[in-house]
Amino acid sequence: MCGIVGYTGPREAYPIIIKGLKRLEYRGYDSTGVALQNGGVKVYKKKGKVAELEEAIVGKNLHAHVGIGHTRWATHGEPSDRNAHPHQSSSGKLAMIHNGIIENYSQLKNELIKKGYVFHSDTDTEVLLNFIEEIKTNNSCTLEEAVRIALKRVVGAYVILLVDADDPETIIAARKGSPLVIGIGKGEHFLGSDASPMLEYTKEVVYVNDYELAIVRPDELILKNLGNEKLTPYVQKLDLELAAIEKGGYEHFMLKEIFEQPQTIYDCLRGRLDASNGTITMSGIQQYADQIVKASRIVIIACGTSWHAGLVAEYIIEELCRINVEVEYASEFRYRNPVITKGDVIIAISQSGETADTLVAIETAKAKGAIILGVVNVVGSSIARISHGGAYTHAGPEIGVASTKAFTGQLAVLTMIALKIAYIKGSISHERYMHLLNELQEIPEKVAWVLKNSEHIKKIAEKYKDARDFLYLGRGYNFPVALEGALKLKEISYIHAEGYPAAEMKHGPIALVDDSLPVVFIATRDAYHEKIVSNMQEIKARKGRVISVITEGDEHSTSLSEDVMIIPEADEIVAPMLSVVPLQLLAYYIGVAKGQDVDKPRNLAKSVTVE
Ligand code: M6R
Repeated sequence: MCGIVGYTGPREAYPIIIKGLKRLEYRGYDSTGVALQNGGVKVYKKKGKVAELEEAIVGKNLHAHVGIGHTRWATHGEPSDRNAHPHQSSSGKLAMIHNGIIENYSQLKNELIKKGYVFHSDTDTEVLLNFIEEIKTNNSCTLEEAVRIALKRVVGAYVILLVDADDPETIIAARKGSPLVIGIGKGEHFLGSDASPMLEYTKEVVYVNDYELAIVRPDELILKNLGNEKLTPYVQKLDLELAAIEKGGYEHFMLKEIFEQPQTIYDCLRGRLDASNGTITMSGIQQYADQIVKASRIVIIACGTSWHAGLVAEYIIEELCRINVEVEYASEFRYRNPVITKGDVIIAISQSGETADTLVAIETAKAKGAIILGVVNVVGSSIARISHGGAYTHAGPEIGVASTKAFTGQLAVLTMIALKIAYIKGSISHERYMHLLNELQEIPEKVAWVLKNSEHIKKIAEKYKDARDFLYLGRGYNFPVALEGALKLKEISYIHAEGYPAAEMKHGPIALVDDSLPVVFIATRDAYHEKIVSNMQEIKARKGRVISVITEGDEHSTSLSEDVMIIPEADEIVAPMLSVVPLQLLAYYIGVAKGQDVDKPRNLAKSVTVE
């Protein structure tokens, strides 16, 4: 987690850093800090969001042309002023910010304590910084050399940026396991956890790789590996506009992103799905089509919402392709010595492309000979780069911490992959294939239809906002949607919610039902419809408050429900892209009605780059 920003060049560094940190707050917002080169390294830091630091240091002399800044998601040490980054070295000459975890920090700390070092925070970052300073002093070497030597001893993940009072134009940066982008301007350089802090200044960026170290000055970018060999930076053109990372008149990013879905799903299908000719073009899948068709199983790896998308994909791929699919939490998969054999196909799903557990799980599977297909949103992210093939979701930047448009983008990509493989394998009839292509093509329009009912969903949210618990029930393709609806509500309203397969309810959760429990049924018209209607009756008989997501015109389900949220008629395979939308809106409006900071829910961060 954590967002990092750096600037070196002729402009005022502080406003660039603060604006950049605000854009990176999705990565963490427990505390904020900046270090500015201003006749020595001056550090200002504070517990809380970026705006709180900004307010606290009004009137200070913040003039500087070089600086670094950090927005934190706490790992070592509670969120507090003293644990906020940047940290300063014992001499006060060095300041450092860090995104990641130094696993062997206590060993290093003990060594330094024996040498007389005193620590002012509980962080692993302060330990690494003093370790670097100790090496620099003992070896009378440059900061760059000291960093290189230190990193050889470090176990863990990091992006670090350092400034040195003795070399005021330079920022030293290094990466392993956490993202780092360097923007190249004219006589200036920008650094960030992603490209958003530099968007209005440059479109030329370098994505730094693991085990690389950068020496960044206004006129110079030197990239080296940890063996001190110079590397040629690979400069890429950014395909991202400023408007994509701004709220554009919406009250929250989450609402904007929910409403963007007709467009983002359209963008995801565009150029790939041609329903009139019956084709799906996905070169990153086509390359591995033979192996996928022959695979005896597909393992899907992901976390959180992406895992829910994986679960929907399991149902779709098994149905259409007749290939065994297993869906794994990346965090479990990586630690349990999974059975993976050469030729197994892994689909790794991730919005950010930086989730630490997913990354390591991929590496584990790759080492065992699996083919890795990434379904990733952030272009150029770590997961996209270590995958053999795959497809981007093209949902654009998702800034609200609760994932919405990335989820529907993942479903669109995974459905196309399933259809493509089924077609090549011959496990789907031509008629059904063509029907599903058309159904998929109509999804953006149908999502727009669902969104027209947002005011109605807002009223439902007002009615139930004070409930203590919620239960979400679904069957088949809608069971993962129930999980996703419950996750959305938990994340942004802090109401306890559970998602369950509707039939499992009788094996335990039904004990929770009384006249105060809202039970959200995802009961759209599909093969399981009659069954879920019976489940609705069972809840109603116990006085539970039934709210349901139903297909337009379903009078029977309406009569069983206290409130309904309607989606248009759609094939059950594509319906999750529709049935999830009312649940996103319900969670959003409940979160807002309860006064929560829905874009930045407590304790969460957008991208979980620590295990
Ligand atoms: O970036 P990823 O898709 O790998 O992230 C996975 C989860 O951390 C993420 O989906 C998380 O559960 C979201 N907060 C859900 O809204």
